[in-house]
Amino acid sequence: MFENLAPLSGDPLLTLIGLYRDDRRSNKIDLGVGVYRDEHGRTPVMRAVKAAEQRLVEDQQSKSYVGPEGDGAFVEGFADLILGSRRLYAGIQTPGGTAALYLAARLLATNCNRRIWVGTPTWPNHLAVFADVGLEVRTYEYFDPSAQSLCFDKLVEALKAAETGDAVLLHGCCHNPSGADLSLEQWREVAELLANRGLIPLIDVAYLGFGNSLKEDGTGFRTVLDAVPALVAASCSKSFGLYRDRTGALFVTCNAETNSTVLSHFVTYARSIYSMPPAHGAEVVSTILNDVGLRADWQAELAEASARVRSLRALLAEGFKAWKRSSALTEQKGMFSLLPLTRQEVLALRCQAAIYLPENGRINIAGLSMDKVDAVIEAINPLFGW
Ligand code: LMR
Repeated sequence: MFENLAPLSGDPLLTLIGLYRDDRRSNKIDLGVGVYRDEHGRTPVMRAVKAAEQRLVEDQQSKSYVGPEGDGAFVEGFADLILGSRRLYAGIQTPGGTAALYLAARLLATNCNRRIWVGTPTWPNHLAVFADVGLEVRTYEYFDPSAQSLCFDKLVEALKAAETGDAVLLHGCCHNPSGADLSLEQWREVAELLANRGLIPLIDVAYLGFGNSLKEDGTGFRTVLDAVPALVAASCSKSFGLYRDRTGALFVTCNAETNSTVLSHFVTYARSIYSMPPAHGAEVVSTILNDVGLRADWQAELAEASARVRSLRALLAEGFKAWKRSSALTEQKGMFSLLPLTRQEVLALRCQAAIYLPENGRINIAGLSMDKVDAVIEAINPLFGW
């Protein structure tokens, strides 16, 4: 019956997980998929998450349905964390940030102009999600890997070319794959343009806390929320280390009436796709956010993780110092930077040095450890060609 189906190649980042796992070399280094790793190469269950899980085992009274909107306490606490307090919003818990993007994209594909502007390069799954719902994608150059610089003029041009009612994808912080975030001044300019031109921002917030701090990482994109109604897709995968528990949320920030109408659409889509989000991760997050001690411990552990990434950034920049763009690595935010490597160079690194990067040259700096950094510098340095 399915004999005529052609096999699909699959997501490049997820494919890399399997390739790394099957490599038997003991010196292999995984700088591929975007997960945080500690100095020992482990992706730990955060201390506050463990403590919250223990409480849930004791206290949970039921596993009955939660409904398509998900856990109200989670949505409220997480909205406060992502959007900042005292903002008018409606929100729905989703299975990870991807489902939040999916619900948002579906709304955009069936309403307004059915078109979205996307800066490239971007997370490959953005394009897959938008294509899946039939959203028309217009691209512009966001980042130039050889200059290691953000093409702000191209973003401004795109916002000026977009028509009223078009949507615009923005990375809230810790841009994936480049680490190149807008400055506060640039965010302000973007916010003003979005408002003046009647554009709809879809802000993807997947790495809050991995740049400078929870507070600073939110400052830029919140200028957009202050200026214009927006959709915000947020993930707990990285900030709470809850990757496999699929925990996220989608928020809309218009007026009360529009928010509740938009929410009714999200709830209807959710019911037909996955019915209800999984409860566990959301209960863990709301337990942490509503307990002073657990919240402080979670923040401290997240701050340690992001400090580790920043110190690895400094080591890499020092190791690559003959490359005239190396200092950009210390200015970029979060887990990723995008090295100007060709596909052939990335494949040679994999084959000859057992170093795993996606083919676009993105490096997950959180996958490094002090004892591996030299091997990575040694293998990559000759490729920059000075
Ligand atoms: C990544 O970019 O590597 C992460 O967001 C993981 C994923 O799902 O692609």
